[in-house]
Amino acid sequence: MKKPIKWVKKGPRGTFLPSDDLKKKAWVTNASIYKKALKNPVAFWGKLAREGLDWFKKWKKTYEWKPPYFKWFIGGKLNACYNALDRHVESWRRNKVAIIWIPEPVNEECRILTYYDLYREVNKFANVLKKLGVKKGDRVGIYLPMIPEVQMAMLACARIGAIHSVVFSAFSGQSLNQRMNDVEAKVLVTADGYYRKGKTINLKTNADIGVKGTKIKHVVVVKRMGNDVKMVKGRDHWWHELMKNAKLYYKPEIMNSEDTLFILYTSGTTGKPKGIIHATGGYLTQAYWTTKWDFDIHDEDLFWCTADVGWITGHTYGCYGPLLIGATMIHYEGAPNYPECDRWWEIIENHGVTIFYTAPTAIRMFMQWGNEWPKKHDLSSIRILGTVGEPIDNDAWMWYFKHIGGGRCPVIDTWWQTETGGTLINALPGIGPFIPTVAGRGFPGTKNDILDESGKPVPVGEGGYLVMKNPFPPGMLRGVFKNPKRYKKTYWSVYGDKYYYTSDGARFWDKTGNIRLTGRVDDVLKVAGHRLSTAEVEDALNKHDAVIECAVVGSPHKIKGEVPVAFVITTGRKPSDVLKKELVKQVEKVIGPTARPGEIIFVEDLPKTRSGKIMRRILKNLMTDQTLGNITTLSNPESIEKLKKIVGYKGSG
Ligand code: PRX
Repeated sequence: MKKPIKWVKKGPRGTFLPSDDLKKKAWVTNASIYKKALKNPVAFWGKLAREGLDWFKKWKKTYEWKPPYFKWFIGGKLNACYNALDRHVESWRRNKVAIIWIPEPVNEECRILTYYDLYREVNKFANVLKKLGVKKGDRVGIYLPMIPEVQMAMLACARIGAIHSVVFSAFSGQSLNQRMNDVEAKVLVTADGYYRKGKTINLKTNADIGVKGTKIKHVVVVKRMGNDVKMVKGRDHWWHELMKNAKLYYKPEIMNSEDTLFILYTSGTTGKPKGIIHATGGYLTQAYWTTKWDFDIHDEDLFWCTADVGWITGHTYGCYGPLLIGATMIHYEGAPNYPECDRWWEIIENHGVTIFYTAPTAIRMFMQWGNEWPKKHDLSSIRILGTVGEPIDNDAWMWYFKHIGGGRCPVIDTWWQTETGGTLINALPGIGPFIPTVAGRGFPGTKNDILDESGKPVPVGEGGYLVMKNPFPPGMLRGVFKNPKRYKKTYWSVYGDKYYYTSDGARFWDKTGNIRLTGRVDDVLKVAGHRLSTAEVEDALNKHDAVIECAVVGSPHKIKGEVPVAFVITTGRKPSDVLKKELVKQVEKVIGPTARPGEIIFVEDLPKTRSGKIMRRILKNLMTDQTLGNITTLSNPESIEKLKKIVGYKGSG
C-alpha cells in the first residue's frame, strides 16, 4: 500500500492544523479571508454568486433587508437545473461521473450516471411533469428512497420552475399526508418500495395514505423493487412508462433569484411541521461555495454525504452542492450495517472515496460495533471527514479521527439547520484549527454572536444563545410556507428582528470566534440526527383512545443522542406491556419509525403550573436525575413524589 499522506499536524491546546500538503491543495488557505469578507459581506457574496453560478441576467440589487425579510440578488435570473447540469454538459465534464449509485443488495450492479446521463433523464422527466400539468410555481411532492430518481425528480422540478417538497421516505403515510396537504402538491413522485437491511419496504402503500384527500392528481411510481402494488387507474403512472416516450429536451425556465426553489418541512416546537422556504439564487450560492470550500472538493475527488435526500443535508450536499460544482458523488441506497457492519468502509475502499460526511449518531453506532470493522479496509483514500446534525462529543470525534481518518485527516464539524440552507459554522480544511467538540468559525461573509437572556453578548467561555446577524446569509430561509406569523415568532421575536434566533445553545471557545455548540434550547429533539418535536410525538400519542394526556421529553441515549420518552395518563385501560407496545406502534404509524419512543411511562398525574402548562423541564430532570429546581409554583407538587418513585429518581446528577 502506498504511504498515505498526512493532511493534518498537531496544533496547540489539543487542536489540529492543516499540514503543508493540505495547505498546498486546499482552495482556501489564508485566514485573512474572514476579515476581508466582513469588510463588505454583501459585496463578498455578490462576488461568490457571480463566480459560482451562471446567470441568465445579472441582478440589480445584491441585498435588501426589510425586517424580518431579506432578499438576495434581486432582479437576477437563473435556473438551478441549468447550473447543476447544462453548464457541465457543455464543458469537458459532459461524461464525468456525477453519481455512483450503490444498491443495498451486494449482488446488484451499481448505476453509474454521468452528467450527460443525468441531464438526459432530467430533461425527459421535466417533460413528463409538464405533460401531467405541472406549471411554474406548482408544488410537486417527492417521496422517494435513496435511488437516483430522487435527484432526477428534484432537478426536473427546478428545470420547469416547479417547487419540490421532498418527504423522507421513512416518514409514515400520515406524515406525508399532512405535508402534502399543507404544501398543496399537484403531483407526487414515489416508488413501489425499497430495501432496508435486506427486507422490502412497501412505500406505495404509505404513498396511497399520503395522497388521500389532497390536491394530488397524479402519482408517478418508480419501479425499484417489482413488488406487488395497487395502481389507481388514471391517477397512478409508472415512471418508466411515462419516460419511454418523453421528449429529450426541455428548455430550462428562466427563474428569478428570489423564486422559491423548494419547500422542506421540518419540526418546530408545535405538533405541526413547518414548510421552510428556500429561494433559488441565494440557496444555490451558499450551496456552491460551502460544498467547495468546507469539504475542499476538487474535480478528482469522490464525495460521499451519507444523509438521506429527504433531509436538508441530502438536499444541499447529496444533490445541489456537489452537482453545482461538477463533483462526483456516491449515493448509497441501504443500511450502514448490511450485510455486515463494514458496508460503509467497504464502499469507501472499493470506490476510493476521498471526502466523507456523516452524522455523529452513525459514528457512535460504529464505535459500538467495534474497531475491527473499519480496520478490515484500506481507508487511505480519505482526505477529509465531516460531521453534521448534532454536537459531537470528544470520544466520537477522536474515534472518527483515528479509526476512519487514520489520524491523518481533518474532521470538519459543520453546524447548520434546515433553515440556513447550507453550513454556517465550521473550520475550513486549509485553515483550521480542527478542535474536537468545537465546530469552528462562521463561514466567511457571515456574522454570528452568542447572547445571554437579556440580549447582551456573552464573554468567551460562557454559555448563551446563538444568533445570526445582518446581512443574513443568502441560503437562509425566506419564510414558513403559508405561515408568516410562525416565521416571525420562531426566528425574529426572541431578541426582536435584529437577530435571527437559532434555538441553539453555544459558547465561544476562543477570541477568534471558534464556537462550541451545546444543543437545542427548545422542545426540538435530535433523535439519531433526525429533527423531531416533542409536541409531534405527543399529538401522535393523543390520537390513541387509551391516552388522556401525555408529555414527551428527550432522554439521553448512547447511540442516538436522544430518544423521546413519553409520560402517559391512561383512560379506561389499565397500564400494561401490551398497551405500551400499542402506543409505540401508534407513534410509528403516525410519524414513522424514527420517532419511536424509547420508553413509555404510565403515570397518574403530570406536574403542571397553575395555568395548566405541563412542566416538561421537571420531567426531563427527573429522567436524567438532575436537581429539580423550584417546584413550589406547581399546582400539584404532590405529583412529584410519585414520579420520583416511578422513575427511580435519586437526584444525584
Ligand atoms: O441543534 C442544531 C443541530 O441540528 C439542528 C438543525 O437540525 P436540522 O434542521 O435537522 O438540520 C440538521 C442538518 C443541518 C441545529 O439547530 N446541529 C446541526 N449541526 C450541528 C448541530 N449541533 C451541533 N453541532 C453541529 N455540527
